[in-house]
Amino acid sequence: MTAQLLSTSKLLNLDSQKLPQHVAVIMDGNGRWAKQQGLPRIEGHRRGASILKEILRACNDWGIKTLTAYAFSTENWGRPLTEVNFLMALFEKLLRKELQEMNEEGVRIRFIGDLSPLPESLKQEIAHSMTTTQNNTGVNFNVAINYGSRLEIVKACQAIAQKVSSGELSLDTIDENTISQYLYTAASPDPDLLIRTSGEMRLSNFLLWQLAYTEIYITDTLWPDFNCSEFRSALAHYQKRDRRFGKVKLKE
Ligand code: FPP
Repeated sequence: MTAQLLSTSKLLNLDSQKLPQHVAVIMDGNGRWAKQQGLPRIEGHRRGASILKEILRACNDWGIKTLTAYAFSTENWGRPLTEVNFLMALFEKLLRKELQEMNEEGVRIRFIGDLSPLPESLKQEIAHSMTTTQNNTGVNFNVAINYGSRLEIVKACQAIAQKVSSGELSLDTIDENTISQYLYTAASPDPDLLIRTSGEMRLSNFLLWQLAYTEIYITDTLWPDFNCSEFRSALAHYQKRDRRFGKVKLKE
């Protein structure tokens, strides 16, 4: 562990040995934040993106291995076209603008979701960012775009059924691990901590399979007001949780 990490952990009053390995975030409240400020909704998303960068950097600095962010759901296509177009353009612009810095900082970017209906130019930036950063060893940054957990599970079932019908997979070898391996998130362990901002108490079709034993932290803070200090509070709460994974702890 680096001296910097040790000093940071001390400063934060967090146990550096008990940090989550994988944090997932539902970045909710951008629209409400913008409304409160008398700004158009898109300004909430713009500000939300800069907060995400701050949290990603904190994960990298503090040794949190994976951050998964819910950027656009399969249901978000139902938003006004101007907002959808703005978000697509924002993702593309951010990738162009931030890729070099993220690459220098060792970030490894992956996208999860059905990327096929995204604009061609965005798909090219996505492919470029993934190849550029594929050998990096810093934080794994998973961005969920056009992601829906139920659709992800349906696609996994279809792929597994295909393998069974072609004889490549036998029915009785299918177990929980098989399902996990057919999800977009096959490369990552399940999240340890889910943070949802803006006080909503729901999962909104995000990582339904993967969140089975994840600790959930919900804050009333709107995503554009979230920051490193709030992130530290979430981590401090996480460290107080007794994770039993459905089991009972035997007395030592
Ligand atoms: C939810 O708030 C937010 C989104 C649907 C978009 C999140 C996207 C970003 C923060 C940009 C991230 C950029 C990259 C490159 C990953 P909302 O609009 O539902 O807010 P509301 O509930 O207050 O209306």
